[in-house]
Amino acid sequence: METVVSGIRSTGKLHLGNYYGAVKNFVQMQHEYNCFFFIADYHSLTTHPTPQDQHGNVKQVLVEYLAAGIDPEKATIYVQSDLPEIVELYLYLNMNAYMGELERSASFKDKVRANPDNINAGLLTYPVLMAADILIHRATKVPVGKDQEQHLEMARTFGNRFNRLYKTDYFPEPYAFSFSNQLVKVPGLDGKGKMGKSEGEANAVYLSDEPEVIRKKVMRAVSDSGPTEENQPKPEAIQHLFDLMKVVSAPDTLAHFDGLYNNCQIRYGDLKKQLADDIITVTAPMREKIHAISNDTSYLRQVALHGALKARESASKTIKEVREIIGFKEF
Ligand code: TYM
Repeated sequence: METVVSGIRSTGKLHLGNYYGAVKNFVQMQHEYNCFFFIADYHSLTTHPTPQDQHGNVKQVLVEYLAAGIDPEKATIYVQSDLPEIVELYLYLNMNAYMGELERSASFKDKVRANPDNINAGLLTYPVLMAADILIHRATKVPVGKDQEQHLEMARTFGNRFNRLYKTDYFPEPYAFSFSNQLVKVPGLDGKGKMGKSEGEANAVYLSDEPEVIRKKVMRAVSDSGPTEENQPKPEAIQHLFDLMKVVSAPDTLAHFDGLYNNCQIRYGDLKKQLADDIITVTAPMREKIHAISNDTSYLRQVALHGALKARESASKTIKEVREIIGFKEF
């Protein structure tokens, strides 16, 4: 059975981008593959969270994984920092990751632009740590959103380079995966790019947002004054609402509003109302479950412990074999 690995950074609540880009696939994949889903708390350290926030954020992602329907009996759910083997593999891979290729990564360049006063080495080697996450279980499929495609390419590069250096075929090639064939990019409510946590509170709809909050955010989403000619192409300032609808609504709902746009009869207020209703409907079961398990500390502890044990079994086997390949042998 093929092995699957994916994770989400522990930087707070999950939004619709995380759900449709990643978690929805996790839930489907757990029935068909040997799955490892983790909470990337090592990765979150690049932004220097306080110890209190750090723990709270890990818990939040764990709760939301479970609320979204990941079954800890089917998939292995774990906290990344419970596996020190990942750090060891990260060190080995760093020896063959070149400054130039790391500096050229699009996400590194974005981070440098956004936070010029915090360009730390962890940020530079972020893709190496991500490769270690994947290669530690020798996974071949990685369910992620469109923004992670380049990181997967780098993971293949680092795995292949290791194989070449040590004349082995130990690491298989991991590929980004989505059930919808194309990797998903969920737009933000500001109509300027992807939905994300760092683009401002109002740009993202969170799985835990209450219905009134969802309605308010969606009604305030960017739009324009409406089409003036039949069948005119949609500008970016409106395309994002249709793209969101494509993700959360039924195909005939999308077709209905598309038709209204094309014959210039669309009222954006109606479209936003429908969009908000559909988001509320798809998130409702998860919201309820989040409320139900958030304070069940003993259950959460049990899930994290069980997952750490299973994940460490797989990771320590890999590290043992990697140490032998490298030439670290017992006397
Ligand atoms: P993070 O926390 O930024 O994002 C987690 C997942 O959510 C997806 N995503 C989106 N998908 C579609 N549209 C969006 N607007 C959107 N926003 C976020 C991301 O593509 C990602 O799948 N580096 C990873 C975490 C990670 C990881 C790994 C993933 C660390 N190690 C190993 C896979 C394998 C990240 O940026 O997470």
